Amino acid sequence: MQQRIAFVTGANKGIGFEVVRQLARKGFHVFLGARNSDAGVAAVQKLNKEGEKEEYGEITFLKIDVSKPDSIRRAAEEFSKKSDRLDTLVNNAGILLDDDKDVLMATPEIFETTLRTNTLGALLVSQAFVPFLKKSDAPRIVNVSSGGGQLTDGADGWAPAYCISKTALNGVTAQLATALPKFAVNSVCPGWVQTDMGGANATRSVGEGATGIVWLAMDAPQNETGKFWRDRKVIPW
Ligand SMILES: NC(=O)c1ccc[n+]([C@@H]2O[C@H](COP(=O)([O-])OP(=O)(O)OC[C@H]3O[C@@H](n4cnc5c(N)ncnc54)[C@H](OP(=O)(O)O)[C@@H]3O)[C@@H](O)[C@H]2O)c1
Repeated sequence: MQQRIAFVTGANKGIGFEVVRQLARKGFHVFLGARNSDAGVAAVQKLNKEGEKEEYGEITFLKIDVSKPDSIRRAAEEFSKKSDRLDTLVNNAGILLDDDKDVLMATPEIFETTLRTNTLGALLVSQAFVPFLKKSDAPRIVNVSSGGGQLTDGADGWAPAYCISKTALNGVTAQLATALPKFAVNSVCPGWVQTDMGGANATRSVGEGATGIVWLAMDAPQNETGKFWRDRKVIPW
């Protein structure tokens, strides 16, 4: 069997880092995406050290800033020098800038930066890596979204720019699923996870937060597509 290949964006820390670890443990060759080279290389070194004992799959650093189209293009070029096939893309990179701010106070800067990273970033990275995914016999795109983006039951007012970016990311998921009928394209909420973004009071460890993402990245039925998931169950948009 061919070794499976995954690419995870925003993976120098937090949930993305843990997704790389879990996929490498399953024998994937994982491309660890980070916008900061030092942080990305340090993350790869840390996992490679662990992997000496546990026999992880190969882990390769790939520099990518998902908010910058040039950086995405360069990352795809760099990737093509190492592989012509990708089995799973995990659009994990994300920012939370507005926290408890009221939507009436949201600035254009916060809105634009948040949507450029969390929404447009995931779409542009998907576009750039679809040619490699098309070489896979079971291509998957996993968009790391948030329950904060659900429209069912309305909004609670927390972090409006962030939540709207995730609502729109779910729209990207639905559109990609239609455009790519042979792919499994899904959104997933990891729950409230202890990371720099989630904070220390979050209810889930990174290990728990990454599990549902990894399931969609490798084990979920390939015909499940265009849906929103948490804990391996479909949740409303
Ligand atoms: N934690 C939670 O409770 C929670 C809940 C629901 C959904 N999520 C989602 O889960 C994903 C991961 O979040 P996390 O909790 O692990 O957050 P985190 O610890 O803050 O990590 C975010 C990662 O995204 C990277 N990133 C941010 N902007 C980027 C850009 N323009 N280009 C490339 N990478 C970029 C960060 O890189 P730097 O280190 O360079 O900043 C970092 O590696 C996000 O999409 C988030 O919205 C998290």
